[in-house]
Amino acid sequence: MPEYVFRYAAPYLEVAGSKDSYIISKNGQKYLDFLMGWCVGNAGWNKKTITDSIRRFKGPTYVSPTYNYGRWEELGKKLVSLTELDATCFRATGGTEAVELALKISKAYNRRKNFIAFKNAYHGQSFACMALVGLHANKFGPYPDDYVRINLGKWDKVTDTVVNAILRKGVCAFISEPIICNLGVIVPPKSFFESVREACDETNTVMIIDEVATGFGRTGEWFGFQNYGIKPDIITVAKGFSSGYAPIGAAVADAKISESMRFGFSNYSTFGWQPLAVETAMANINYMEKNKLIDKSKRSGEYLMNRLAEFCEPQGKGLCVGFNVKNENIKKDCRDNGLLIDAFDGRSVLFPALDVSKNEIDKAVEIIKKNSKP
Ligand SMILES: Cc1ncc(COP(=O)(O)O)c(C=O)c1O
Repeated sequence: MPEYVFRYAAPYLEVAGSKDSYIISKNGQKYLDFLMGWCVGNAGWNKKTITDSIRRFKGPTYVSPTYNYGRWEELGKKLVSLTELDATCFRATGGTEAVELALKISKAYNRRKNFIAFKNAYHGQSFACMALVGLHANKFGPYPDDYVRINLGKWDKVTDTVVNAILRKGVCAFISEPIICNLGVIVPPKSFFESVREACDETNTVMIIDEVATGFGRTGEWFGFQNYGIKPDIITVAKGFSSGYAPIGAAVADAKISESMRFGFSNYSTFGWQPLAVETAMANINYMEKNKLIDKSKRSGEYLMNRLAEFCEPQGKGLCVGFNVKNENIKKDCRDNGLLIDAFDGRSVLFPALDVSKNEIDKAVEIIKKNSKP
């Protein structure tokens, strides 16, 4: 049979529907979803309140980036208020575009060459996003020498390496997730981000925090950086911005830094903040606020971590959790028992819906425990 749509992996699940914390396959099997599309479905799948708002929408089909649209202002104001930053939003359709924007804004601001990121982390699949972390270098490289990739290790050493790299001058921006989901949910210490902040301030280097996966309550705060009491210069968001009900993203940049983008055609995204996507993001944020999903994420995350600690050493914040267990097939074994998780390089990760119930956590933990070898 020809493959009409490119797939990079053998499909193991044909999705027919989804509701709350569950995915229903074409053959009728129900899976407890502890991935939620990798930090996408924070609000939970198919919430009537959100789908009703989408159906009720009577606004324009489309607004060109060259016009104005009141709801852009309203969503921008709301997003900025949640970040507690003095910032301006740049419209995007998803995470990669948001990260590209953050890199562009940084470059327009200080005109420097180098970008610092963690090696093998993940910030998207555009050329710049791949070059940041060295992704697929053997296929798409060599990348330009503008990128400095730092290995993770003991935090004292990592902090020194990053700070020294920034202090060497000529660095345009440093970028990292606040809690590094894409390396298996690694939680850097507060002192790391404080030191990086200090070095960035000293050298006028831009500090970008990629919140594409960690944003919108995933870590028990609206944004992951809020766990550390630091203020980044730019954050990037997508995924949980709409909880998957529509494609939307943004770079939210310090107001002063944003000024550097005021030149002709510096940014144009045909579908960035398309009206229905804007309405959806609004409905998603309202739903999260009304249902206190950020508090729930914090409380349920503590419960999940405590339950996992009965047999392994979980790391994480809120409902963003990583752990090691001895089973190379943990992902498949869990799936065979009706639970969706992810696992790579010996590390398992869990990103449940923010309103996941205690019973669902218990059920998931039992499946993981049963399939973990001592
Ligand atoms: C931290 C992070 N940044 C950026 C991206 C890219 O986002 P998108 O797939 O929406 O382009 C991802 C996607 O998984 C991500 O996890």
